[in-house]
Amino acid sequence: MKIAIDGPAGAGKSTLARRIAERLGILYVDTGAMYRALTWKALANKVNLKDKAELRNLAVRTDITLAYNMGQVRVFCDGTEVTDEIRSPEVSRWVPVVAADEEIRAIMVEKQQAIAREQSVVMDGRDIGLCVLPDADYKFYLTASLEERARRRAKELVKKGYKVNFQEVKEEIRERDKLDTERLVGPLTVLPDSIVIDTSDMSPDEVVSRVLSLIGEDG
Ligand code: C5P
Repeated sequence: MKIAIDGPAGAGKSTLARRIAERLGILYVDTGAMYRALTWKALANKVNLKDKAELRNLAVRTDITLAYNMGQVRVFCDGTEVTDEIRSPEVSRWVPVVAADEEIRAIMVEKQQAIAREQSVVMDGRDIGLCVLPDADYKFYLTASLEERARRRAKELVKKGYKVNFQEVKEEIRERDKLDTERLVGPLTVLPDSIVIDTSDMSPDEVVSRVLSLIGEDG
C-alpha cells in the first residue's frame, strides 16, 4: 500500500499521515523533515544558501535518518537529533530555497523511493504524488484556507515556546507556498488523480475518517 499526501503548509498533512499509518500499521515518512534537516545543517554551517554548488556538496555529505518511536518521528542529521530544531521559524523560512534545487530534490526523491520500495508507506510532502510515488494507490491533496492554516501553525509554534506574530506567520506560509508551487522541479500541484480535501472546517478526526472511508478501511 502506498499513500501520497501532498498540500500546502499547515493543511494537516502530518497529523493525518501519522494517524493513517498507525491505523493501517504501515510506515509514515515525513519528507518535509528531510528537507528541513538539510536546511538546518546548512544554516548551522553558515553555508551560503544561494550557492548551489556548496549546497549540493553539503547534501551528498549529509546523512538524514528518520526514527519512529510510539507514533512520533525523531529526526537525526549525521547522528545528531534535530527533531525540535528543524521546526524553527528560521528553518521554515529557508527550507523552500534549499528545496527548489533540482539536484537536492533528486537526492531526496531517491532516498524516499528507496524507503518505499521496501515496505508499505504513507508519505507526506509536496511532490509525493507527482515525483516520489507516481504509482501510489491513493493520492490526497489536503488544503485549507490561508487564514486557518496560519492559525494552526501559530498555535503549534506557541505550544513549542516561540513568540509569534500572526501576520508574520501568515506571510511566511504565503511566501513558502508560493515558492513551493512556482518552482520548476517537483512543484506542489493538484494532480488529475488527486483526491482533494479542504480541511478548513474539519477536525483532525473528521479528516482521518474521511480518508479511511475513501480507502475502504473504515470498517
Ligand atoms: O512539510 P513541511 O512543511 O515540513 O515541509 C517543509 C518544506 O520542505 C516545504 O515548504 C518545501 O519547501 C519542502 N518540501 C518539499 N518537498 C517535499 C516535502 C517538503 O519541497 N516532498
